[in-house]
Amino acid sequence: MKKKILVTGGCGYIGSHTIIELLTQTNFEVLSIDNLSNSSATTLQRIQQITGQTVAHQTLDLCDKVAVDNFFQQYPDLQGVIHFAALKSVPESVANPLLYYENNINSLANLLACCEEYKVNHFIFSSSCSVYGSVQQLPVTENTPLQKAESPYAYTKQIGEEMIKDFVRNNQIQAIALRYFNPVGAHISGLNGEDPINPPTNLVPVITRTAIGLQEKFTVFGSDYPTRDGSALRDYVHVTDIAHAHILALNYLLNHQNTTNFDIFNLGSGKGVTVLEAIEAFVAVAKLTPNYQIGSRRAGDIAAIYSDTSKSEKILGWTPKLGIKEMMESAWKWQQECAKK
Ligand code: NAD
Ligand code: WQD
Repeated sequence: MKKKILVTGGCGYIGSHTIIELLTQTNFEVLSIDNLSNSSATTLQRIQQITGQTVAHQTLDLCDKVAVDNFFQQYPDLQGVIHFAALKSVPESVANPLLYYENNINSLANLLACCEEYKVNHFIFSSSCSVYGSVQQLPVTENTPLQKAESPYAYTKQIGEEMIKDFVRNNQIQAIALRYFNPVGAHISGLNGEDPINPPTNLVPVITRTAIGLQEKFTVFGSDYPTRDGSALRDYVHVTDIAHAHILALNYLLNHQNTTNFDIFNLGSGKGVTVLEAIEAFVAVAKLTPNYQIGSRRAGDIAAIYSDTSKSEKILGWTPKLGIKEMMESAWKWQQECAKK
C-alpha cells in the first residue's frame, strides 16, 4: 500500500511544486490541506494537468483545532507531514504582527499536537533564511548564530523551529526544518508557478509582471550596497530543486537515517546573485528589458546573504540542478501562460 503524506499549504507556490514532485517521482499518496488564504483551488487543476493525478484535498484552516483533529481521524495511517502552510509576507507581518503570530504559531501547534496524538512521526517544516537576520559572515551555515529577527514573519520561523525542537524531546516525532533562501521560478512546463491572491512584491515576479505589462515599472532597491555592482545580493534557488529536497528529507526520515530527532538544513544555490545580475539574466532569456529605475534601499533589506549548502549535499544528497537561467526561463514561461487566461 502507498504511504500517505500530508502536505499543508498544498495549493501554494512551494507546496504545489512539491506535490508535483511527490506524484511524479515517488510512490507516496498525497493529501493536501489549504485554507486558500493566499491561493486558489485552481492549483489542484494545474497539478492534475501536469501529473494526470488527482490529489485528495481539504480546504480547512489549520488554526481550527477541531477541523485538524477530524482530518487526522479520517487518515489514521498517515506517515508524515510536510508543513508549508503559513503567511509569508514580510511587510504584511510588520503591519499586522498578531495575524502572523496567530496563524503561523497556532497552525503549527495544532499540527504537532495531532501528530503526537495520532502517532504521525515524521515532520518537515518550511523554515526560511530570514531566521538568520542581519548576518555579517557569509556564506551562512546551519551553525551560523541567528541574529534578531528583522520582522514578525521571520520571528514566527525562529519560534517555529524552537517549538519543534522542544516538542520532539518528549515523543517519537522525528523532524527536519528546511531553511529556504530565495525560491524562484516555475515548473519546467510553464503550467504551474507562483499565483498568490495579493500581487507579489518579490523580485522575480515583479520583473516578469513588469515585462508583460501588468506593472508599469519597478524599482531596484539600492545601488550603494557593498556588493560587486552596488545592488543587493541574494541566493536564488529553483522551486523544483526546493521541492525535490523535501522528497530527500522525507525519505531520510522514513528510512531512519537521521541521528537526531530534529535537524536543520539550508536550501539555497550556494551562490549570490545581485539584483542587477538577476535582471540581466531575465533580459538574456526573454530578449526584452523590463522598465525599471534605480531607487533607494528598501527598509529592512540586508546587503547580502547566501548559503553554504554543504550539509544538505553531504547528508541529504541534495544538490540544486537548475541555475539562474532556468529560474528566469521558467518564471517567464509561467508569466506568459498566466497572460493567456
Ligand atoms: P504560499 O503563500 O504560496 O503558500 C502557503 C499556503 O498556505 C497558501 O496556499 C495559504 O493559503 C496556505 N495557508 C496559510 N495559512 C494557512 C492556514 N492557517 N491553514 C491552512 N492553509 C494555510 O507560500 P510559499 O511561497 O509556497 O511558502 C511555503 C512555505 O515556505 C511558507 O511556510 C513560507 O513561510 C516558507 N518560505 C517561503 C519562501 C518564499 O520565498 N516563497 C522562502 C522561505 C520560506
Ligand atoms: C530580493 C532582492 C530586494 C523587489 C524575501 C523574504 C525572506 C524569504 C525570501 C520567506 C532584494 C530586491 C525586490 C523589487 C528590488 N521569504 N528587489 N525591487 O527580501 O530577499 O526575501 O523572500 O521566508 O524572508 O524577506 O526577497 O524577492 O523581495 O527581494 O530591487 O521590486 O530584490 O531589495 O535585494 P528577499 P525579494
